[in-house]
Amino acid sequence: MTDRRHEIESLLVEGRSFPPVADAVHVRGMEAYRALAAEAKADPGTFWGRLARELHWTKPFGHVVGAPPPAVTWFADGETNLCANALDRHVAAGRGDHTAILWEGEPGEVVRWSFRRLLEETCRFAAVLTSLGVRCGDRVAIYLPLVPEAAAAMLACARIGAVHTVIFGGFSAPAVRGRVEDAGACVVVTADGGWRRGKEVPLKPAVDEAVAGLACVRHVLVVRRTGSEVAWTPGRDRWWHEERAHAPSFVPAASLPAEHPLFILYTSGTTGKPKGILHTTGGYMVGTWATARWVFDLRPDDVFWCTADVGWVTGHSYVVYGILLNGVTTVMYEGAPAHPAPDRFWSLVARHRVTVLYTAPTAIRAFMRLGDAWPQRHDLSSLRLLGSVGEPINPEAWAWYRRVIGGDRCPIVDTWWQTETGMILVSPLPGATPTRPGSATLPLPGIEAAVVDAHGKEVPDGAGGLLVLRRPWPAMMRTLWRDDARHREVYWDRFSRPGAPVYLTGDGAVRDPKDGYLRILGRVDDVLNVSGHRLSTMEVESALVGHDAVAEAACVARPDPTTGEAVCAFVTLKQGQSPSEGLRDALRHRVEHEIGKFARPADVRFTDALPKTRSGKIMRRLLRDVAAGREVAGDTSTLEDYSVLARLREEEE
Ligand code: WT7
Repeated sequence: MTDRRHEIESLLVEGRSFPPVADAVHVRGMEAYRALAAEAKADPGTFWGRLARELHWTKPFGHVVGAPPPAVTWFADGETNLCANALDRHVAAGRGDHTAILWEGEPGEVVRWSFRRLLEETCRFAAVLTSLGVRCGDRVAIYLPLVPEAAAAMLACARIGAVHTVIFGGFSAPAVRGRVEDAGACVVVTADGGWRRGKEVPLKPAVDEAVAGLACVRHVLVVRRTGSEVAWTPGRDRWWHEERAHAPSFVPAASLPAEHPLFILYTSGTTGKPKGILHTTGGYMVGTWATARWVFDLRPDDVFWCTADVGWVTGHSYVVYGILLNGVTTVMYEGAPAHPAPDRFWSLVARHRVTVLYTAPTAIRAFMRLGDAWPQRHDLSSLRLLGSVGEPINPEAWAWYRRVIGGDRCPIVDTWWQTETGMILVSPLPGATPTRPGSATLPLPGIEAAVVDAHGKEVPDGAGGLLVLRRPWPAMMRTLWRDDARHREVYWDRFSRPGAPVYLTGDGAVRDPKDGYLRILGRVDDVLNVSGHRLSTMEVESALVGHDAVAEAACVARPDPTTGEAVCAFVTLKQGQSPSEGLRDALRHRVEHEIGKFARPADVRFTDALPKTRSGKIMRRLLRDVAAGREVAGDTSTLEDYSVLARLREEEE
């Protein structure tokens, strides 16, 4: 019944456009946006160089953009330290007492760390890592709940030039092991556990299982969070609070070349093996700093809440780096969105006077379903801006977000980007761009996006095609960790010509003939997006075929009204095996065990045979139609998008 009302509302709101706000501080008005875009296009070096010089460099750069991609460099002859720019710079400017991290644990504790305190904790982490043998260039794995120590550990790595690889706390032991091993991490930072839905999620046991017999791992540094009993390997394992007690509160920040590796973040591609996306120091720093400022129109007293976990790129760029680089308070909330009651988010916004809320469509849809009464109980008047990220947002959810959460007052920035891009690339600017439900609108200054067909030729506006990027940007990935060949093959080889590099995003998009606005349709490849978590159908398939009873498995995405997409698994069994509810559960459990809970297939369908072409290729298109057949979100635009996407995927196959 309420769904019906939302649907009508969404139809009324679609096609409507909402004007930019008048009180923006950074990019004020469409003319200002156009001037920036024109300047960036005419002379990217001067444009990005001017921005970069607003940050602190220990050795000034002479060059801005180096070789063309894939081997691109930014600010290559300069030296800097990202941690010093995010912390020391603000303390030196007299903002040491300003809150850097406002953290709330799921059980309800609230902790505020000022910039001075965060700098101290970061220095202690840096000193402890160094004492455990971590040197510049070494890899450190971070597998923590969303606690302030996670940010301090990341910043500590950046301070000494160690390369962090943060592993989302929802990943299972085998998934952790694969990542730690591939990165060759010498230290794993973890915790006894964390809180989620009132229960402890144990982390240390997963690490024990993950690193058993791994020669690269010399130490496991354990943060005490839940206080529960953990197994201990003497010599290897160290308590953070014990090491911290005798660590100095200041260590100098290393002067690092701009292209020094900053982090590796594993993400799903189209194969069963996750890709280690490598980001480097200077370009990532400039890109996340500038885009956070533009897109969120940041002000010194903002209380900025990005609800992502630091285990995903959104948490790297807009919980930690981009926000702290701007000297702004970042909110971290450890637990589940609806715990202990469905109004936890709204109570948090009200109690901490959050000014900017940046979250994912899947969360918005889930809240929408819980009803308007929960947010209406709280004073949300501190909010001035709302953001969306991770997947296409349907107009219905957009309209609800704007009305119920934003009080019809806050603009919504629908931000498109990827782990690979490091920073937001397509988004409205709140003071410049009229917004429209379901549209990420225009590329940011310096970004050249195009929509092309299977041959790389631009399609007419209004037609669906592949989204590509034709100009380098500072926070772009540099390579895949230890696999530059795959980097070139996946992202660059298909459409690039000598002197004209073309980056393939893997997303489908349509450009509006009227105003050039981009509508992002979703992935055209076998990467799917479940609740904003990126997953490869191949990863799920290999977990399934690992089960003794399974002969073959094929997974496809189907639309889901809450999670955006859901995994639908088609499974054929070996001779002598027969389908049962028990087996279905066992298969789901197997995926949870191999990858993590979030990857569990929504549907497991047993079938006698998988449909194949004469050459033996599984006909995924057919499976997608079967999987999607039952229901589609009550939103016609979603349906239309899905059919364009289906056609694009078909062309890809
Ligand atoms: C994929 C990247 C970037 C942070 C979170 C996800 C999809 C992301 C949007 C958006 C439509 C979006 C794309 C993209 N996506 N933002 N605003 N509208 N789709 O990072 O895990 O690297 O996934 O998420 O399909 O390629 P990621």
